[in-house]
Amino acid sequence: MPITIAVAGKGGTGKTSLSGLIIHYLSKKGKGPVLAVDADANSNLNEVLGVEVETTLGDIREEIAQAELMTPSPIPAGMSKQDYAEIKFNSALAEMDDYDLLVMGRTQGHGCYCFVNGLLQTQVAKYAGGYTYTVVDNEAGMEHISRGVLPDVDIILLVSDCSRRGVQAVGRIAKLVESLDLKAKQVKLIINKAPDGQLSDGIKEEIALQELDLLAVVPMDELVYKYDTEGIPLVNLPEDAPVKVAVRDIIQKIHL
Ligand SMILES: Nc1ncnc2c1ncn2[C@@H]1O[C@H](COP(=O)(O)OP(=O)(O)O)[C@@H](O)[C@H]1O
Ligand SMILES: [Mg+2]
Repeated sequence: MPITIAVAGKGGTGKTSLSGLIIHYLSKKGKGPVLAVDADANSNLNEVLGVEVETTLGDIREEIAQAELMTPSPIPAGMSKQDYAEIKFNSALAEMDDYDLLVMGRTQGHGCYCFVNGLLQTQVAKYAGGYTYTVVDNEAGMEHISRGVLPDVDIILLVSDCSRRGVQAVGRIAKLVESLDLKAKQVKLIINKAPDGQLSDGIKEEIALQELDLLAVVPMDELVYKYDTEGIPLVNLPEDAPVKVAVRDIIQKIHL
């Protein structure tokens, strides 16, 4: 059965870092095929994975809009605009060595943001069945969840830092998920960047208040900071780096 995992939470909590490490682990373990989805308009999942992004759904949307204005039209005679668009959008799926990558991106200027949202939903729904795992790195906030972009998510990983506001933010997402009656079988909390891997009493209290199900505590890892500032992809961290060890533990706990 294909499994879709969505990673959500406040900005800067580590969604992209953890998504990238999860994708890396699953694909290196041969548990694939894995589809990596960057659903943040400010795409940067590829930086964690250490790959270049050639094009995004947003870019292609722009190209199609331009094509429609051109004379002579680049749309082959006899082909409907819709078929042309579909072929184009399919070209946004990039094949890497160990996984495929789909990047949402955004449209330039005044294009409606919800348009790429809808596109993403269509493309993910079309592809997800062909992969053992689909991992979706979300933008901050609840847009994709509230708009129903990810209706068939099996596992939602809520990521927070060690702040009450971070935990409150994911608490709101958890309540939204509940109210939308999504199919998600598991909605779990990950606390990231915990000093010495420990939770303070205040954070424990907030987790209880928000009635969140704590899956894992990922320690603050100095090496992550170092790699980040030096522009080295996080997937190149040594296998015994605390974040990598924590990600292996997360994957075991959710039985992937
Ligand atoms: N466990 C960690 N230890 C230290 N730094 C981390 C850790 N996880 C993430 N970071 C850093 O926090 C920042 C935000 O991470 P990112 O994954 O981009 O968050 P988000 O996608 O939620 O906005 C990045 O600079 C990243 O390197
Ligand atoms: Mg991010």
